[in-house]
Amino acid sequence: MQDFLAYLTVSLLVLGCAPSLPEGNDRTDNLSLGLADLANFPIGGAINEGRVRDDTALLAIVNEEFNSLTATNDMKMYSIARGPGALDFTLPDAFVDFAEKHGKRVFGHTLIWHYGFPQHLEDLEPQGAEEFIQSYIDTVVTRYRGRVDGWDVVNEAMATRGGELRETPWLEKIGKDYIPMAFRAARRADPEAKLFINDFNTERDTAKLNGLLHLVREMQADGVPIDGIGFQMHIRMDTDEELIGRSLAQAAETGLLIHLSEVDIIFNRHDDTQGGGEQIVDEITPELLEAQAEKYERLAELYRENVPPAQRYGITFWSFTDRDTWINGFFNLKDWPTLYDEQLRKKPAYDGFARGLQE
Ligand code: XIL
Repeated sequence: MQDFLAYLTVSLLVLGCAPSLPEGNDRTDNLSLGLADLANFPIGGAINEGRVRDDTALLAIVNEEFNSLTATNDMKMYSIARGPGALDFTLPDAFVDFAEKHGKRVFGHTLIWHYGFPQHLEDLEPQGAEEFIQSYIDTVVTRYRGRVDGWDVVNEAMATRGGELRETPWLEKIGKDYIPMAFRAARRADPEAKLFINDFNTERDTAKLNGLLHLVREMQADGVPIDGIGFQMHIRMDTDEELIGRSLAQAAETGLLIHLSEVDIIFNRHDDTQGGGEQIVDEITPELLEAQAEKYERLAELYRENVPPAQRYGITFWSFTDRDTWINGFFNLKDWPTLYDEQLRKKPAYDGFARGLQE
């Protein structure tokens, strides 16, 4: 990074286009480029508004590094349709206001998901479930029309492993049609918003990717409005890189936007069917941090190598510090999967990723 800054400073001076700075300013100090400046596609982070509101260090990272934001939980159905009464927009309103105030692209996550399915909806009959999906999506997407750039319309539609649909309450009540139904409702509510289907392990589970792409192609053939595919990309240190590249290329063949929507790189073995997992790395070492940096570098390269520029919706990091990572709490592990350490200092992973954006 330092080398790059020095290089950039020299190049700008040589080209005679050094930015004019107020007197007394040290040029190199002012040329601190964040990840979003280095990339030719958006770079995002996932946060909850309440987490970042009073945390100046976290806020500085958000402002310096990202030009896109996703709400970790603030825009989920379990945050909005908390109880049987009216929808509660306290959290998503605060999030969208925050993101706009800081000039970020707002990405909506997520409209329909099985996880955290609100209890008060459990007794809905098929007809009631359809009506709920349509009116929920209509209300939420209309509320943020023109402000939210894109939505994960359906999250984790595929079973954890293999190519079948996940058995969710929505599938049980409505059948397979809940998916096109959700996309159509979102398009009606905001014709401009980019509509994504988002899932995990599709970069490494070929059967799952094939199942997802089959569904996507069916939707395309039926004229269902879909604009993008999200790869959550909660990968591990041993996730095969060539396989990631092939999977991205295969998804890009649909012509849709490709979003790496929730990136982190995990040392341990999390169990993605049930929470929990196996702690295989107890202590982080400089060697491991360097290996992780290389993996982050490679991931940025793989995205650029396999996704054509016009299809790059961006790369988003999920709760992007080792202090706040969801991996530790959710899987009851101790891990170090992000770009920032527990003191919010940049890790080698940060520099690796920055390299991968530029090479
Ligand atoms: C996670 C959040 O990080 C946690 O705070 C929450 O308890 C559960 O959800 N896939 C997704 C995200 O699409 O919404 C999940 O986020 C992580 C896995």
